[in-house]
Amino acid sequence: MLSVNELYSIEELRLKAKERLPQAIFDFFDGGAEDEITLNANRQAFRDQFIVPQGLNDVSNVDTATNILDHFFSFPCAIAPTGAVGFGWRGGDLAIAKAASSHQIPYTLSTTATASIENIARNVPGRLWFQAYVLRDHDFFFKLLQRAYHCEYEALMITIDLPVGGKRERDLRNHFSVPFKFTSLNMKDFASKPRWALPMLLGGVPKFENLVGMRNTYDYGEKSASSVGKYYDPSFDWEALAKVRDYWTRKLIIKGVQSPLDAKRLVDLGVDAIVVSNHGGRQLDGAQATLRALPAILKVVDGKIPVFIDGGIRRGSDIFKALAMGAQGTLVGRATLYGALAAGNEGANRAIEILKDEFTRTMQLTGMRTIAEIHHYGNYLLANNK
Ligand SMILES: Cc1cc2nc3c(=O)[nH]c(=O)nc-3n(C[C@H](O)[C@H](O)[C@H](O)COP(=O)(O)O)c2cc1C
Repeated sequence: MLSVNELYSIEELRLKAKERLPQAIFDFFDGGAEDEITLNANRQAFRDQFIVPQGLNDVSNVDTATNILDHFFSFPCAIAPTGAVGFGWRGGDLAIAKAASSHQIPYTLSTTATASIENIARNVPGRLWFQAYVLRDHDFFFKLLQRAYHCEYEALMITIDLPVGGKRERDLRNHFSVPFKFTSLNMKDFASKPRWALPMLLGGVPKFENLVGMRNTYDYGEKSASSVGKYYDPSFDWEALAKVRDYWTRKLIIKGVQSPLDAKRLVDLGVDAIVVSNHGGRQLDGAQATLRALPAILKVVDGKIPVFIDGGIRRGSDIFKALAMGAQGTLVGRATLYGALAAGNEGANRAIEILKDEFTRTMQLTGMRTIAEIHHYGNYLLANNK
């Protein structure tokens, strides 16, 4: 059997995860909404952006480190929140969080994680962010924020692109519900991967630990994984966000920004950073690729707050492209997920190592020695493809 050190790209980790998991479980992590146009467009936009390297700079030592929101990052990447990781690898949330911590990049814990706010805070020495969906049960929502505050999470990330769940047809076809159950419809698929299925049968199906105790918590008969969206509050609006801003006194990051109009209003509201994101193509299919949405958003934000981007980042050179365009940092979702789904903590570590190594090499090959230089040369580093 290959060790993860013999896997050389995020795609190879993805294929390893695919081999290990039942189809329904792999598809839940890998898939997007409807025709997966946005899922693919995110990736394609990075592929379509070419780089213009500069020569004759001494690149024997390059410094990939940066500072965003008073955070030290060993390179400009943070872990995006992803729910339900434990369905693919028991303890997967902790596996990714520990990998992030050992690489000195922030880890974002999802509301729908399969590890609790307290468990992650207790076991991870690194700096943590907490992602919250605004729940219909407002009391419960504010209690989640209190818990994250008491556990010293440094930033709160509110996701705004999920007023309702997206239509993920792979999950519907695979009879995959959240939380999943072993049923006659999926038994054959699940039984085909005994190394995955046995620990699930023996140890029980992981829970959304942070939602335990919420009023009207999921019953076990949901039809699709995205139906978990029904616990989120579709009436959440600007007025409600202003209340969250008043309530949360540490850094507030808004994720899921796609419109420059929203970006401008968020700056005016006093948020600390935004993430240009379309949820990795899992929500609105037909939403434009994030790399394409980025320039207009950067223009209105005008350097007033940091702008992150996620969606489709699978290579260190993708991180470089986003930075050259003007983003301060990036988030990765599936890249580290694939690593953890392939081989737990070792796999998540390997994913970050691959991205960081590729990013460093891209800096050397383009003649850039610091993050500041990438920002300084900006558009000169990007081919005008049109
Ligand atoms: C399986 C999965 C679960 C996710 N869960 C959440 C979540 O709980 N909260 C959230 O804000 N975003 C969630 N996302 C979106 C990610 O935070 C991120 O925006 C997206 O994965 C970025 O695209 P990438 O996977 O191509 O890197 C999830 C994404 C995936 C793939």
